[in-house]
Amino acid sequence: MLKIKDKKLRVPLLLAPMAGLTHSALRTLLLDFGGVGMLSTEMLSARKLPAENPCVSPYLVRTPLESPLSYQLLVTDVEQIAPAIAALHRLSADVVDLNLGCPAPRVRKTGGGSLLMDNPDKVRAIIRTARSLTDLPLTAKIRLGERLDEATLYDFCLMLQEEGIDLLTIHARLRGESFGRKPRWQWVGKVKDRLDIPVVANGGIFSVKDAARCLEQSGADGLMIGRAAPQKPWLFAEIAREIYGVSVDECQINLPWIYGRFALGLARFRPERRLGRLKEFTHYFALNYAFGHHLAMAVQKSSTLCMAWQQAFEFFSRSDAEKLKDVNVEEVETALQGKSVSEAGD
Ligand SMILES: Cc1cc2nc3c(=O)[nH]c(=O)nc-3n(C[C@H](O)[C@H](O)[C@H](O)COP(=O)(O)O)c2cc1C
Repeated sequence: MLKIKDKKLRVPLLLAPMAGLTHSALRTLLLDFGGVGMLSTEMLSARKLPAENPCVSPYLVRTPLESPLSYQLLVTDVEQIAPAIAALHRLSADVVDLNLGCPAPRVRKTGGGSLLMDNPDKVRAIIRTARSLTDLPLTAKIRLGERLDEATLYDFCLMLQEEGIDLLTIHARLRGESFGRKPRWQWVGKVKDRLDIPVVANGGIFSVKDAARCLEQSGADGLMIGRAAPQKPWLFAEIAREIYGVSVDECQINLPWIYGRFALGLARFRPERRLGRLKEFTHYFALNYAFGHHLAMAVQKSSTLCMAWQQAFEFFSRSDAEKLKDVNVEEVETALQGKSVSEAGD
């Protein structure tokens, strides 16, 4: 069992934070299948978070079922920490995660994400401040660094532990390495050997076999799964059952039904936020079909939600007609056209 401070996770399988993807609709879809030990938000700007309205913010909308939920902060300055932690307390966050690994240029330009790994003193100050302000489990997510340099990496990770990080997730790639490159899972093991806190491996897990191989090579205390979550939301359940021996009910994999279920979850967002989220999800989900690029392109080109759903419906009618019968199309269409759940009561 994986323990983060005093929080015990039933399964050591974590959802990776992913901008535009790990929101309420995906999280509840994952819960339909089970096997997820901890959910995550996408990265949240620590600067903007205190002013967000949790009832309508597309980043913060959440149902009570979505628990335990880790909130990932993108911090660029120590001064942002106190108001951000206070906001996370109001939101009843289960865990606070610090983004120290994002290599996106627009994030690095602000001084956050992986750029922070170049500035250990600033990271130390950020963690020290956060640790003094919250008893919540505090976690961090990193990449392996700028280049393969054991000493720098160990020093940085030991500093994280020393300052009170309770769990470290390592995306096993260097800052500049693309997703096309094989993740360096052994490097997660090297770091784990030097730390006392749990270390979770992330990167390139798309099947039970990948999960087994990653564990074998890293000896990690848990696994974090990103892109496979929107592609195969049932994967957590499979890994939980087959690798961790956790009892999770078997579910039928009906792709049109899963797509409809995700679309239903989008009704929690304001109408103008739904199409973008459907497009992001479809990009990964479409990989389940040999001709999925037709689905992805048709949804991508749609200028309205109604058009996107119609395109998806037509794709499923051609490629998966038998399974489409299980989808309550009217229910999905009504939900997608309606007000958001939070607005409906206004
Ligand atoms: C679309 C997208 C958005 C991402 N956003 C974040 C983010 O907000 N915070 C973060 O720490 N990592 C982010 N990541 C990186 C993932 O959390 C994860 O480390 C990476 O995808 C490797 O895991 P995977 O191979 O299982 O996808 C993002 C990745 C993708 C593909």
